[in-house]
Amino acid sequence: EAIEKGGYDHFMLKEINEQPRSIADCMRGRLDAKNGRLVLGGLRDYMNKFQNADRIIITACGTSWHAGLVAEYLFEEFARIPVEVEYASEFRYRNPVISEKDFVIAISQSGETADTLAAIELAKSKGATIFGVCNVVGSSIARATHAGCYTHAGPEIGVASTKAFTAQISVLTMMALMLGYQRGTLTESKYVQLLNELEGIPVKVEKALKMNSNVEKIAEIYKDSRNFLYLGRGYNFPVALEGALKLKEISYIHAEGYPAAEMKHGPIALIDEEMPVVFIATKDTSYEKVVSNIQEVKARKGKIIAVVTEGDTVVRGMADHVLEVPDTAEAFVPLLSVIPLQQLSYHIAVMRGCNVDQPRNLAKSVTVE
Ligand code: G6P
Repeated sequence: EAIEKGGYDHFMLKEINEQPRSIADCMRGRLDAKNGRLVLGGLRDYMNKFQNADRIIITACGTSWHAGLVAEYLFEEFARIPVEVEYASEFRYRNPVISEKDFVIAISQSGETADTLAAIELAKSKGATIFGVCNVVGSSIARATHAGCYTHAGPEIGVASTKAFTAQISVLTMMALMLGYQRGTLTESKYVQLLNELEGIPVKVEKALKMNSNVEKIAEIYKDSRNFLYLGRGYNFPVALEGALKLKEISYIHAEGYPAAEMKHGPIALIDEEMPVVFIATKDTSYEKVVSNIQEVKARKGKIIAVVTEGDTVVRGMADHVLEVPDTAEAFVPLLSVIPLQQLSYHIAVMRGCNVDQPRNLAKSVTVE
């Protein structure tokens, strides 16, 4: 096992650090920005269905569901097709309206999650096309779908998903770009520009990982907190959910992820000097709005930890702590902004003496309902 951990104390830390490579692996042979090429073999025979779908339905559980939420923003922005993101466990039991014109994407690291598998069977019986985004080759979900695209992140051992999440987003991003280009909702020049930016993401992830020692210092300060709030908007809203999920999974600290603007409809009541609030406040179209949300928390004496874009000065002047990630296209920010949040949950859990790789009551894949 020590050898498998490759010198790391835990699989989770190894997997966090592997992300520059796992994302590159996921894009290898598919993305060739120099020649403006993007090829997803699994999609070839189904591109017509995908392109002409009335609606995309994404179904998944846990962290994979968060990747699905990111994809909702991606598909709607680039391809202008309406998207619904469904918890597989809800979808399967509520007699959903599904037709042959729906393109269903099932996301699963393990490819064995019982609820996701059942959701697929249901959608299939209604005539929809089902596309899988799985990590484990030959898994049940990979076999149950009409077609699919593997994430190629390599085996993920830590129960809390990290590198599978960023690989899922990478696949979904490539799908959205392809779809947008084919449908003509994304211009050629924008498409090529985005392909180039995407190809450079692994290097930027490597850079984001360098915040680790700063993250460790912050973990030391807040490790005994009883609650955490994670807030973000737009593409960073699913990242807020994922950051909170990571923390509760492995450190057993109660954490809530929320769209930053919704804070005033509830979570704001929880804020006092004891409450660490993690803002994902990268430079994007909602930046100014997030800045005013930060002010609202500051006015109530909450402790502010902010994930910001490199070189940011405004949030730096307001927050108690900042963690920088490199600048990128707005749509690709989740691939970077989630990194320090994975590290934060990891360090807090280690400092609290928790079993990081096998947290209590959780399983790597949930094969029963
Ligand atoms: C479990 C795991 C999570 C995972 C979820 C969905 O809860 O602990 O890490 O996100 O199942 O699993 P899947 O394999 O379908 O992505």
